Amino acid sequence: MAVQSPTTQAPGATGVFPAVRHRRLRRTEGIRRLVREAVPRPSQLVLPMFAVEGSGVRQPVDALPGVARLSPDLLVDEARAAHAAGIGGVLLFGVTDHKDAVATSAHSDDGVVQQAVRALKAALPDLVVITDVCLCAYTDHGHCGLLDDDGEVANDASLEVLARTAVSHADAGADIVAPSDMMDGRVAAIRAGLDEAGHEGVAIMSYSAKYASAFYGPFREAAGSAPGHGDRRGYQMDPPNAREAVREVREDEAEGADMVMVKPAATYLDVIRAVREATDLPVAAYHVSGEYSMIKAAAERGWLDERRAMMETLTAVVRAGADIVITYAAVDAARWIQEEER
Ligand code: PBG
Repeated sequence: MAVQSPTTQAPGATGVFPAVRHRRLRRTEGIRRLVREAVPRPSQLVLPMFAVEGSGVRQPVDALPGVARLSPDLLVDEARAAHAAGIGGVLLFGVTDHKDAVATSAHSDDGVVQQAVRALKAALPDLVVITDVCLCAYTDHGHCGLLDDDGEVANDASLEVLARTAVSHADAGADIVAPSDMMDGRVAAIRAGLDEAGHEGVAIMSYSAKYASAFYGPFREAAGSAPGHGDRRGYQMDPPNAREAVREVREDEAEGADMVMVKPAATYLDVIRAVREATDLPVAAYHVSGEYSMIKAAAERGWLDERRAMMETLTAVVRAGADIVITYAAVDAARWIQEEER
C-alpha cells in the first residue's frame, strides 16, 4: 500500500503522491521546453529610443546603461539592427532644447521626432514606428500639459496641443501614436484630430494606467523632462489604486483606443492581470527605465545574472497577461529568446 499523506487526501485534491510526481516534467530541458507556458516572443517586444537633432550624434545615458540619445542617422542604424533581431517595433521619444511654455516644438513639422520618424520610415518601411505623445520634453516647465494662470496643469487646454502633436507624428509617417500625458479625454481628442487630418488608419496605444512612479527617474535624465516645480501626482495615477486602472482602461476603450497600456510593468503585475481580464484590446506593459536600470546596476556589481534576471522579469510580465512589452532590453531579449528556441 502506497504511503499517502493526509494533506494529499484533502477534499478537492487533484492527485495523490506518489502517483503524481511534478518533477517528471522538469527532468530535462527538452521536457521543460515542451510544457513551457508563457514565453515572450521577439515580435511582442518594443524598443524605446531617444531622438536628438543633428547627425553622427550619440549621447549615452548614464542612468540607462546600453541606451543612447541618437541623431536620426544613427537611430536608423540602431533600429535596423533591432528590426533584424526580430523585435516588434520601436517607441520614439524626442529630446530637444527648443522648449517654451506651450510646447511649440512638440508639433512642429521639423521637430526632432518628426524628423526621426521620416528617416526611419524612409530606411525601414516595414518597421512599426510608435511615437510617444506628451508635452513634458517640450515645455520649459517640464509638465505633461499646459499650465493655467495658477501654475496648475490645465486639462482641456492641453488636449488641442496633444492632438496637434499626434497629427504631426502621423503626418511624418508614424504607424501608432502613444499618448502618455494622462490628461482626461485625450484619446477622443487625438482620435478626432487624426481622423480629421485623414489619418483614420493610424492607431492609438494609450498609456491608460500610468502611475506616478519613482521608477521613471533614469528616463527623465535621458529625456530632460523632469518637472521644474511640483510633481506629476495631479495627473498620473496613485500607486495603491488597481480598480481605478480598470476605469481608465474602459474610458480609453470607449474613446477609441486601439491598445491600452499599464506602466510600470514589473511592480504592477496585478494591474496587468486585472486589465487583461477587463478588455479584449491588446494590452501593452512598459518595463520602465528604473525597472531596467536596477537590474543592470545589480548585474554590473555581480549581484544578479543579467540575462536570467531580465528574462525572468519579462516572462512575468507576459505571464501576467501583457501582449506587448516595451523594454530597453528588447534587442538583447530578442536574441536570447532566439538562442533558447534554437
Ligand atoms: C512622458 C513619459 C515618461 C515615461 C514615458 N513617457 C516620464 C514621465 O512620465 O515622467 C517614462 C518611461 C520610463 O521611465 O522608461 N510623460
